[in-house]
Amino acid sequence: MTAFDVARCRKDFPILARTANGCPLVYLDSANTSQKPQSVIDAVSAHYACHNANVARAMHALGMEATAAYEGARAKVAAFIGAQPEEIVFTKNASEALNLAANCLGAALGPGDEIVTTVAEHHSNIVPWQLVSQRSGAKLRWFDVTDEGRLDLARAAAGNLINERTKVVAVTWLSNVTGAVSPLPEIIAWARAVGAAVVVDGSQGVPHRPADVAALGADCLAFTGHKMLGPTGIGVLWGRSDVLAGWPPFLGGGEMIETVRMTGSSYARPPHRFEAGTPPIAQAVGLAAAIDYLNACGLEAVEAWEAKLTAYLLERLAEFPEVTVLGPTTMADRGSAVSFTLADIHPHDAMQILDADGVAVRGGHHCARPLHERFGVPASIRVSPYLYTTEDEIDRLADSLLRALRFFRVRPGGRG
Ligand SMILES: Cc1ncc(COP(=O)(O)O)c(C=O)c1O
Repeated sequence: MTAFDVARCRKDFPILARTANGCPLVYLDSANTSQKPQSVIDAVSAHYACHNANVARAMHALGMEATAAYEGARAKVAAFIGAQPEEIVFTKNASEALNLAANCLGAALGPGDEIVTTVAEHHSNIVPWQLVSQRSGAKLRWFDVTDEGRLDLARAAAGNLINERTKVVAVTWLSNVTGAVSPLPEIIAWARAVGAAVVVDGSQGVPHRPADVAALGADCLAFTGHKMLGPTGIGVLWGRSDVLAGWPPFLGGGEMIETVRMTGSSYARPPHRFEAGTPPIAQAVGLAAAIDYLNACGLEAVEAWEAKLTAYLLERLAEFPEVTVLGPTTMADRGSAVSFTLADIHPHDAMQILDADGVAVRGGHHCARPLHERFGVPASIRVSPYLYTTEDEIDRLADSLLRALRFFRVRPGGRG
């Protein structure tokens, strides 16, 4: 697939053939979790059917096969983002990856130090830093956003947000609410100039556009398998090798040690130092198959298809005077997640109408309550297409939004 062939792609996703509430399913909740191609389902199933054993500790044929598959998945993830295998730590999701980074970087912080994050983060990149702040005495500060939902660099510069006291900057690549792409080169250069470590939440970036950690220039990148066609139960923390080498353990247990005595233990080298206990083996195998699928599609082609689709989505939403988009309404520096309010209809109420039409979106604060507060709304409706979404499905969404407006007796502008 070079020019993206969405019809062919859809055939690979068995769930897209089903109905929901008697209507053909329109799945527009991929920022929440993505659907899985048959190749990923088959890879997980084949692992359990033919190669299942624990890794590293089982010295038999199956154990060696499982270990090779698990470590092979690590190498595949590394290649996907331009990293080395020993820089890839498998976790259970992005939240755990961010907690790992926060705990390890936080171990060196104390009163007088500052941690900088943004009001646009998912709770996963806020709460771990709040916990570190409470434990260490380091102060938590954050970027605000402009009314368009862009990180407000000018205001941050005026307030000297990143300064000689800043030890960590934790920022999302792409907002899961507004779809806005963060100005990472500027923020990373600023953090570097004061010697701060940079943690990037790539949960909404890595599934949708090519990632290259060398070009990124950050210290850590977190992402999650289930949003990139992979299984649930696996996340990734990439950490530059010199960064991981200096970190203390996070969780203790089997596999993360070198030797254990009752008087103390010594620890394995990264990445195993950070993978206590039996890891997500089948999930890693599934993630590797997801990466094979994305590579076969070509991430540039996926990104271009999503851009076309998102432009169409924004165009259709612009037909509704009742829709207020939170975030950028043009395609410059934005991804495919689009959140909006619909007159004064509560998102959960609107969702019920959409759901009855087989249209799956997310309504709520999408684990980004501070950002919704900044926009002055308690909740929004989020539409998040992915590579398998079609323009016809966007039309089905628009039809359903119209039905919701009629149902709640909002006179749809000029159409009521
Ligand atoms: C930007 C962002 N960061 C982190 C997460 C957390 O991912 P997980 O639930 O897989 O830990 C999400 C999930 O919605 C997200 O959108």
